[in-house]
Amino acid sequence: MEPHITARLDAFKAFPAAQQPAWPDQEALAAATRALAAKPPLVFAGEADLLQAKMSAAARGEAFVLQGGDCAEIFAESSADRIRNKIRTVLQMAVVLTYGASLPVVKVGRMAGQYAKPRSSSFETRDGVTLAAYRGDAVNGFEFAEESRRFDPWRMVDAYHHSASTLNLIRAFTMGGFADLRLVQEWNRGFTANPAYARYEELAAQIDKAVRFMAACGADFEALKIVEFFSSHEALLLDYERALTRIDSRGGQPYDCSAHFLWIGERTRSPEGAHAELLRHVRNPLGVKVGPNAHASDILRLADKLDPAHEPGRISLIARLGASEVRAVLPGLVRAVQAAQRPVVWICDPMHGNTFTTAAGVKTRRFDTVIDEVRGFFEVLREAHAVPGGLHVELTGDDVTEVLGGSEDIDDEALTRRYESLVDPRLNHQQALELAFQVAELLRAEA
Ligand code: PEP
Ligand code: CO
Repeated sequence: MEPHITARLDAFKAFPAAQQPAWPDQEALAAATRALAAKPPLVFAGEADLLQAKMSAAARGEAFVLQGGDCAEIFAESSADRIRNKIRTVLQMAVVLTYGASLPVVKVGRMAGQYAKPRSSSFETRDGVTLAAYRGDAVNGFEFAEESRRFDPWRMVDAYHHSASTLNLIRAFTMGGFADLRLVQEWNRGFTANPAYARYEELAAQIDKAVRFMAACGADFEALKIVEFFSSHEALLLDYERALTRIDSRGGQPYDCSAHFLWIGERTRSPEGAHAELLRHVRNPLGVKVGPNAHASDILRLADKLDPAHEPGRISLIARLGASEVRAVLPGLVRAVQAAQRPVVWICDPMHGNTFTTAAGVKTRRFDTVIDEVRGFFEVLREAHAVPGGLHVELTGDDVTEVLGGSEDIDDEALTRRYESLVDPRLNHQQALELAFQVAELLRAEA
């Protein structure tokens, strides 16, 4: 790498960096990041450019983005079954949303790299014992024991390998026939056959009819078996993201080759912080989480830094305001972004502003509140004549019981049955589909 590019990419080291583990062993850190820097890229610059083009279509209202996956991926759960179920869920949702929006859906997994978490407290105390908080499998172990909670930089190398095998499977599933539109629609029919979801039968029947219409018109279903599926995660661990930043042989530009799309989290989005400084130099499309306390001026300063050229789709603003705040807070942010003539993609994350703890101490969200935030998001953007560009959700393809409600009405008692997430509660397979059907209904009603 040319020295002046290296200097630019390393400049972040002089900036304040929030949410970084205090690695106890600097030699181990240096050795692990050297090992990472020697690994092949996980994604290619040309793929990130392709996604950037799709994000710019979403900014114009010519595509809709669906981004979904675990809050935190877990090494022990990166089995073929779990990954397949997640991909299947996203594909099923995408078919329903494609019909609802009458737009191509850009499919982005919170997958193959979502291994580091920001935490509100650095420590956790149980029975008088205080240890470092769990910061994701790329940093330390979840088990509450001294050894497991110690920050180990070699875990970043493990995260790389788990990301590589997950991506390999994603590529296999989305190229090898698993994504066949007819098959995906068949799964959706299976979903609406369950009496709990009978209210969506009519929409599923309309989609069936549309697929048959396509067949009659001679659509090439063989070609439609291949779908584009992009990877994304929060660019939290600066040591990891820096080590995977590579220079594209085509144009000499840096790309963060750990994923196609990277986002900056709510806790690390300071315009003067190290995250913004590192990411402004990479050419991937970028996301920024926007919480209810965000000042429009901060978001605009950050946009100036990350996107001085006002490139359409370069930045996605992922609003996670909470159902109770979205209608009050989002209009001002949208107006400010419009006034600054910033061609961003507005994406709704209806999960992170709606988390609460039950009387029994379980961290959860309500399905109805999630839907309410999505509704509020659409209302505000339509009212402002801006484009609602996408949806960002925490989901799994399995039958977990982490989010309250939905037609199968998961209640407090059910939360104890199969709660597996180590961090935030995820929509299960059925709740994720139900959300897609409800959003599709919303979009059809508007059309
Ligand atoms: C997340 O997406 O899991 C997350 C931590 O979000 P936020 O930065 O919006 O709180
Ligand atoms: Co989360």
